[in-house]
Amino acid sequence: MLDQNKTPVFTAMKAYRDKKVIPFDVPGHKHGRGLREYAAYFGDAMLELDVNSMKPLDFLGNPISVIKESEDLLAEAFGADRGYFIVNGTSFAVQVMIMTAVGEGDKIILPRNVHKSAINSLILCGATPVYMSPEIDEEMGVSHNITLESLTKAYEAHPDAKAAFIINPTYYGAVCDLKEIVDYCHEKGLLVLIDEAHGTHFHFNDAFPLSGMQAGADMSSVSLHKTGGSLTQSSALLVNTTRVDGRYVRKVINMMQTTSPSYLLMGSLDVARKMLATEGKVILDHILEVAEYARTEINKIPGCYAIGIESEGRPGIFAFDPTKLSVTTRDMGLNGMELYDILRDEYNIQMETGDVYNSLAILSVGDDYDHVDLLIEALNDISKRFMDKRIDYKKIDLHYPEVIISPRDAFYAEKEMIALEDTLGRISGESLMSYPPGIPVVSYGERINESVIEQIKLFKSSHGIVTGMEDPNADFIKVIKE
Ligand SMILES: Cc1ncc(COP(=O)(O)O)c(C=O)c1O
Repeated sequence: MLDQNKTPVFTAMKAYRDKKVIPFDVPGHKHGRGLREYAAYFGDAMLELDVNSMKPLDFLGNPISVIKESEDLLAEAFGADRGYFIVNGTSFAVQVMIMTAVGEGDKIILPRNVHKSAINSLILCGATPVYMSPEIDEEMGVSHNITLESLTKAYEAHPDAKAAFIINPTYYGAVCDLKEIVDYCHEKGLLVLIDEAHGTHFHFNDAFPLSGMQAGADMSSVSLHKTGGSLTQSSALLVNTTRVDGRYVRKVINMMQTTSPSYLLMGSLDVARKMLATEGKVILDHILEVAEYARTEINKIPGCYAIGIESEGRPGIFAFDPTKLSVTTRDMGLNGMELYDILRDEYNIQMETGDVYNSLAILSVGDDYDHVDLLIEALNDISKRFMDKRIDYKKIDLHYPEVIISPRDAFYAEKEMIALEDTLGRISGESLMSYPPGIPVVSYGERINESVIEQIKLFKSSHGIVTGMEDPNADFIKVIKE
């Protein structure tokens, strides 16, 4: 057992600052002297610790001292054999998992509602996706998780697949029967990669569904920055070395990760890991109480619905993460993007995302009753304002587009720009999504259907944030030349 109270990287950072070293290395702001306005605002400590790698602070590409010690603590805290600090976001951790598991021509089974980083990884490594259809919830207008049946169907159609990629949990909190899925995959010889961008907290309180490592998965990418408290962009990759060689994973990481990792990010990973390992259970018990309170109060508000654990057992929801607080206001005639904007612009409340029907609040280690009370108050007010003005809400028919060619072939194919209205039936040469959550509405190589066009039009008319296309307004889309 390691001492989880230790913070080797953070401790080394503080010792370095105390020594007042004369910097003739980069970064060129030289402890803030070359960026005074920034240093004056944030305080000297931040810029004095925005330093490059050196022996006393170790090297992320080949850690042998304080980073190694911190990564070992990280691995132990999350029940993994190996843990890696990631400073390029969980997008990069996802990329590393996929590029470790599959290569040119290999098949990987994955749900269609993956984050764009998973599909983009396939363009980089040349593997082919075999999509499982996640369970679509027509009422909420979102996809939940996958089932063993959808996995079995995908595997039986493609028994030469090498790996399966599972989301734990989805953006909206839906979890599959992870143990059953992992056992099935291993029985069939598939590696199991878990996108735990929204499940960092699972490992630290038994009230949550199983974490990837608890279920015996081979790799997991955890966004410590999303629900675990570390700074934005800091993340971790966890590996169970039974089927995956940790040294090879390091090689894949080093192919693409920056050689100038931020110590501010790594130090925050160290301190967040300590907090989760030593106090996580207590903090998360409290957050669960806050979440329960918020959900109960929101569900009393006319026109609001916040899905909760009563949904367990519905298609694609084997278990539910109560810290995902999505509020559906379609009964008020407000879509999620409108609610998202109203809450920010008129009530100073920033939600995580707004989609066709829902606006999502994510509760994490930093939340408490005071903020939740303000959200409840705002929703009460919005309900009073909008329930009288109810309009008939247009339902969107959600179905994923059909894959025609691989993401990589589509990425490199010859393309042309055509008006959005004319794209029906054409094969997309780009990946379009509302961000967050960054799940493509249509991706490279997929045939554009009515649902895609309807969703993009709705995002635009509701001032949603559409990204991924070359035309910033999404009036024109790049399709494969016929
Ligand atoms: C499911 C999922 N995976 C991966 C990512 C990528 O994480 P990051 O923003 O840290 O790169 C996200 C980001 O929203 C996500 O929602």
